[in-house]
Amino acid sequence: MKKMKKNVTKKSLLTSIFLGAILTFTSAQNPTLTLDFTKLGANVSPMLYGLMTEEINHSYDGGLYPELIRNRIFKDNKSNPEGWSLVRNDSASKATIKLMAAVGQENIPFDERRHAINGALTTCLRLTVEKEGGRIGIANEGFWGIPVKPSTTYNASFYIKGSSSFQPQRRQGQPVPVNPVPIISDNTSGPITVTIESNDGKIIYASGTINLEKSILWKKYELNLTTDANIKPTADARFVISTNRTGLYYFNLVSLFPPTHNNRPNGNRPDLIKLMADMKPKFLRFPGGNYLEGPLISDAFPWKTTLGALENRPGHNGSWGYRASDGIGLLEFLLWCEDIGVAPLLGVYAGYSLNGDHIDAGPLLKPIVDDALDEIEYIIGDVKTYWGAKRAADGHPAPFKLTYVEIGNEDWFDRSNSYDGRFNQIRTAIENKYPSLHCISTIADAQYPNQKVVTGKKPEILDEHYYRDSWAMWENASQYDKYDRNGPKIFVGEWATREGAPTTNLNAALGDAAWMTGMERNSDIIIMSCYAPLFVNVNTATTTVPKAWQWDSDLIGYNALTSYGSPSYYVQQLFGNNIGDKIIPIAVENIPTQPRPLTRRDSANGITKAPLVPTVFYSASQDKKSGTVYLKLVNTTGVKQQVNLNLNGIAKVSPEATLYVIKSDNPQDTNTISDPEKIVPIMSKIKGIAPQFTQILDPYSVSLIKLQQRK
Ligand code: AHR
Repeated sequence: MKKMKKNVTKKSLLTSIFLGAILTFTSAQNPTLTLDFTKLGANVSPMLYGLMTEEINHSYDGGLYPELIRNRIFKDNKSNPEGWSLVRNDSASKATIKLMAAVGQENIPFDERRHAINGALTTCLRLTVEKEGGRIGIANEGFWGIPVKPSTTYNASFYIKGSSSFQPQRRQGQPVPVNPVPIISDNTSGPITVTIESNDGKIIYASGTINLEKSILWKKYELNLTTDANIKPTADARFVISTNRTGLYYFNLVSLFPPTHNNRPNGNRPDLIKLMADMKPKFLRFPGGNYLEGPLISDAFPWKTTLGALENRPGHNGSWGYRASDGIGLLEFLLWCEDIGVAPLLGVYAGYSLNGDHIDAGPLLKPIVDDALDEIEYIIGDVKTYWGAKRAADGHPAPFKLTYVEIGNEDWFDRSNSYDGRFNQIRTAIENKYPSLHCISTIADAQYPNQKVVTGKKPEILDEHYYRDSWAMWENASQYDKYDRNGPKIFVGEWATREGAPTTNLNAALGDAAWMTGMERNSDIIIMSCYAPLFVNVNTATTTVPKAWQWDSDLIGYNALTSYGSPSYYVQQLFGNNIGDKIIPIAVENIPTQPRPLTRRDSANGITKAPLVPTVFYSASQDKKSGTVYLKLVNTTGVKQQVNLNLNGIAKVSPEATLYVIKSDNPQDTNTISDPEKIVPIMSKIKGIAPQFTQILDPYSVSLIKLQQRK
């Protein structure tokens, strides 16, 4: 897949260089854009730009959810305590760590079960210290390191049971295991040291102790660890709980939290919240994506077990090859919406999962319908309702404001064609109980004419998804100009130009910007849109864990310490921050084109002549109250393009305007952790704005001209 992408981008470069000559040669015929202020178009959708999220690329665990302990309840891997290791400084000591599980987890020997805290926390870690000597403990490597920052207080907590050793009563005939639990004199009580330290254990960044009580019962301990002012930030660190005494120590729900946005317990990572808020999005689509559906029906997003105390959250199998802690549960999604001031857009499970299984509409689907109604009640129900009361008990008595509910995700993958029945059953139940809600179908008529919903009421809103390369984005940027104005509204619920990894490059951003001009011009029917995926942890594989991401070309990248926006991010930010409430119709002439390289699909369709695609893209909107005009222009080529601009119907305009440009010399250029701001919008003032003016578009650039109509 990577190879193919390289080819595409190479081709695009070559074509652009070739095209440069053509454009220079024909530049007498400038592209001309006439903005018609005499007949302003439709209203811009107030919800046009939002965010889409799911647990992919370690978006939450190892991302927005700032829990620093990987595998805190020891369920990530059934055969080993992933993320954990033994710390033992003195080779004369004798100690081991071992994963323990509850009855029912058959791969665990009899002697090593029966340590559940409750039905959610059924697996734990045992540290066995048979012979003391130096410091002995358990270390957690975090999500590609534990971020250590100066003058920072971390909240550590964990359950320990300092049990005496015993020989379990075996049923008659049950063999004694090869490695039985050793008999150790019961001396586990006393101080336990907790540290954040360098991976080699030589530097202690923060330290504290708890006094372990002698008890065979689980007990939660908490302490704060504070770093000095003079340390240099690093992620080359681990979290250690250690002892200097023999004994059997059982651990569960080990947690280490850094400061969160607004200091909310179990809250969000502040830098990622800021990056999102800076985009000025209007909604958040959650919980997926594939994460809503789960690999199996039994893995669908289990919103009920994501509520309340962390002790009651068992986590679940995610859809992207790793388990989800569910630290970001249903309530946390809603609080995240509050953190960035957006409306929730809820995806409810619709009975289809990724392995292709589905639940038939009718009585078998009833539990799924009821579950969706319960979920909605949790979000918007009065505190007198069952689930509204639960929300209040969870700390949020006020109902959230919900308008849109999406039924399922990408149900065109359901080869049984069962969506029609499933959609109608769930939609009817939702609309009957909550007439103010608007339901979204996941099958787009235009893309999947053979699978669309045909029975019942016509779907009001359709979700369309597009993952394309930049050529396809440029070629299809005006597809919505031709959509039926009387058809269903469109929610572009996932889309992206997929070039660059792990985050996108400038060429992808040029594809995105072109595509967004098309959505913006048509935002009478495109009522909402959101890029995907939003987040990526950019860490590569280590000796203990695989690389952090599963999907190339993402919007916002981060490691344990810092984060950055891709060029696509800055396009989103520019578009989201600069939009009016009325679409300005634009008539165009002389839009230059370039030949698109032929694809395999072309040859399959018998296309042998390279189709021509535009190289300049545009959209304009006006804020009626202030008169501010937002004109967006994209030049996808490596040469400057001079554009004639006519403001038809405007008598007076401020002679000075603000120009923002996102550009670079090479379309493969990108932002990274070490060079996070190589490509960002550059602001300048331009003069000479009049009802007719010209603007030069830089090579490989996205420009926003913000000009002011005068009365
Ligand atoms: O955004 C990544 C994935 O792409 C989503 O989970 C899924 O809906 C789509 O196929």
